[in-house]
Amino acid sequence: MRNWIIAAAAAAIFVAPSAAMAQAPIVIKFSHVVAADTPKGKGAVKFQELAEKYTNGKVKIEVYHNSTLYKDKEELEALQIGAVQMLAPSNSKFGPIGIKEFEVLDLPYIIPNLAALRKVTDGPIGQRLLKLLDSKGMTGLAYWDNGFKQMTANKPLHVPADYKGLKFRIQSSKVLEAQFRALGAVPQVTAFSEVYQSLQTGVVDGQENTASNIYTQKMHEVQKYLMMTNHGYIGYVVVVNKKFWDGLPADIRTELEKAMKEATLFANESSEKENAQALEEIKKEGKTQFIIPTAEENVQMRKAMEPIYAEMGARVGKSLIDEVIATAGTGAGH
Ligand code: LMR
Repeated sequence: MRNWIIAAAAAAIFVAPSAAMAQAPIVIKFSHVVAADTPKGKGAVKFQELAEKYTNGKVKIEVYHNSTLYKDKEELEALQIGAVQMLAPSNSKFGPIGIKEFEVLDLPYIIPNLAALRKVTDGPIGQRLLKLLDSKGMTGLAYWDNGFKQMTANKPLHVPADYKGLKFRIQSSKVLEAQFRALGAVPQVTAFSEVYQSLQTGVVDGQENTASNIYTQKMHEVQKYLMMTNHGYIGYVVVVNKKFWDGLPADIRTELEKAMKEATLFANESSEKENAQALEEIKKEGKTQFIIPTAEENVQMRKAMEPIYAEMGARVGKSLIDEVIATAGTGAGH
């Protein structure tokens, strides 16, 4: 009996390498910078579950949350060289690799609500923007929502004059830079993974983000005020390394596309709820004072930021800005 077991074990060792090789799954490393418990984090996990199920385990998705693998700028470079296969950077982060057009969605107040956003991303504009990624060695697969941004700082901010001279962390977008300059503030590009520390140590005075990002990064613990400005939008472009994607067996790619479609629906149906819950959690902790701008204060903020629409025409394209305004149905004066 014992000899038989040893012989069987030896045989198993002998056949194991080739069998293992035949079954080795295709690995997709999906890197992103936010917490697991956010709209993007949950979307990534949903894609992982569905992709592994639909391909019967022939594909393994490794999700790396919270910048554990790469930070903002590094992750795009890592995708281009094939060190990771999938990312979902925000629209604001494609400028440094030479695609400025996604920054149109950074224009303040250009997206009035998620239904309007959907008209832009699901229509011809969205498709055209995704195509721009091809020349950078990427394939754009989907648009995922986060939501609308709120300002945070250690002093209450009501009108543009309150922003004067304050240092604000921004994502790597020239439109966001122009936005804060229009308010008289000093913008500073900082990787998402370093925002909490920059706020804590006073390297910057404030920042803008969605409630889910503010809450999961604990920014509210080092910011006394949260202004419910809803002045801009954060959403993501899910991208894959083009060479890797084109090289997949066609049947596998079809299953992954199906998984992505369903994960996108899931992510976009739950983002609003996630942000509302995060706001509630921040309120519950009681460390942050909420400021709701009056209608008059909102008008002042819009007016101060309006000139950047003309200013940014040269960067993101005047006709693109006009097309987004027409599609989103953004009102006069934005
Ligand atoms: C930020 O850098 O503030 C956001 O883009 C992070 C993210 O991916 O939501």
